[in-house]
Amino acid sequence: MTDVPSNQTKPDPCSFVIFGVTGDLAHRLVIPALYNLAATGLLPDKFCVVGITRKGMPNDELRNGLMKGLREFATRPVDDAIATRLLECVTCIAADPTEPASFDKMRQQIERLEANRSTGGNRLFYLATPPDAFAPISRELGRTGLLREESGAWRRLVIEKPFGTDLASAKVLNGELLKIVDEHQIYRIDHYLGKETVQNILVLRFANGMFEPIWNRNHIDHVQITVDEKLGVGHRGSFYDSTGALRDMVPNHLFQLLSLVAMEPPIRFDAHSVRSEKADVLAAIQPQSESDALKNSVRGQYQGGKIGDTEIEDYGKTEDVKPGSTTETYAALKLTIDNWRWAGVPFYLRTGKALGIKRTEVAIKFKQAPFAMFSCTAAETLAENYLVIGVEPTEGIALQFNTKVPGPSIRIDGVEMKFRYKDYFKAEPATGYETLIYDCMIGDNILFQRADSVEAGWKAVQPFLDAWKSAGAKGLQTYKAGSEGPADADGLLKRDGRSWRKLG
Ligand code: BG6
Repeated sequence: MTDVPSNQTKPDPCSFVIFGVTGDLAHRLVIPALYNLAATGLLPDKFCVVGITRKGMPNDELRNGLMKGLREFATRPVDDAIATRLLECVTCIAADPTEPASFDKMRQQIERLEANRSTGGNRLFYLATPPDAFAPISRELGRTGLLREESGAWRRLVIEKPFGTDLASAKVLNGELLKIVDEHQIYRIDHYLGKETVQNILVLRFANGMFEPIWNRNHIDHVQITVDEKLGVGHRGSFYDSTGALRDMVPNHLFQLLSLVAMEPPIRFDAHSVRSEKADVLAAIQPQSESDALKNSVRGQYQGGKIGDTEIEDYGKTEDVKPGSTTETYAALKLTIDNWRWAGVPFYLRTGKALGIKRTEVAIKFKQAPFAMFSCTAAETLAENYLVIGVEPTEGIALQFNTKVPGPSIRIDGVEMKFRYKDYFKAEPATGYETLIYDCMIGDNILFQRADSVEAGWKAVQPFLDAWKSAGAKGLQTYKAGSEGPADADGLLKRDGRSWRKLG
């Protein structure tokens, strides 16, 4: 077991300004991640947190609320001294983008704080707000000059997902932001890139000599990307009903997995090279007509059922879901990538809510042995050769291959060789946001989405969005909560002579 060494340096002094500081994201993830960074000595020595609310509130009230959230959501036991030191840095300031004067006032308050705390004017604005606030807040930050990089001080803008709701809206938002700041100042978060196993895909592929020579259409039959969740929509009915499984998960989280698996080797491990290769592979996803998109996809909506001991009601009966809603809670797609490495290799993607198992994984299916040298076992009945990158719940890598069953005759059976992170490394549990927030503070945007890859992602899913919108209820399958999803999802692979890897 290896302790994870901390050889990282502290970021520059800075102020960390959070819009939406009283919201769920700030309480559940941002503050616990800042706490973990503080506990590992990775916050700047000169640092302040500014919590923005529309109406303002006394500092103590905000600090008490954040402390309560921290106690509930911290990933490690809370050390009172560290938590108090962190929360003493928090100041509440009122600002409302519909009242421009409040932003002018906020600027003066932030500048005063920065002078007191000697943060050198470096600022990070974290928009932990609903998406319709991204543009209005950024416009005001731009107008008041708060985002202008000057006198050697950096200014950064961190934006959460969802980034747009389709290709057109993502382009508009990118256009708006790029009028205010330069691309290098924007950090578009996809929390999947904060997951260790997701980052490890790059290391697995490019720090080992043995995978890359077989990582192509000559050896790989197809790729399966699965993000199955047990939870239903819960109290997010209003957001989810206008979003659906495809928008919520595919152009962002599943495409992060896809692009890391499918990208070409970058010439350097720097933000420009890595992000360019990722954007290129997304741009190479073959465009589909609406009728092809219908053929190459399955969508479903869950009906009531039991997951473990929990009863889940029909999606249609969820609070704030419109009666007769045709929003999908499950999506499966078949995509192909038009380049030399992947021509003819299908990528099958599936994701859904209220399923029987929680599992996030990428399964690379290698081609079968070509002929039956061993007369006891026909080639097509040999166990399948998969390399499985497990993201959740088991973080690790497994290789499945065939081996001889001990005994005098040749009998063959499939076995699995497994690496599990937790067997080798002792790491403190984390929120997944620590690396992302630390990287924002040190100015490393490798793990953040660039405008072109966000747009390439939306472009690839747009035919499915359009086709499903035109089809309405036609073709929308149902599945029972706690099941594996709609039966037709199996058909998507079956017609190609393939099947989904069994998750159970
Ligand atoms: C979020 C989606 O971005 O990702 C949620 O909005 C989803 O609907 C979540 O549940 C999944 O994240 P994870 O890390 O649990 O796989």
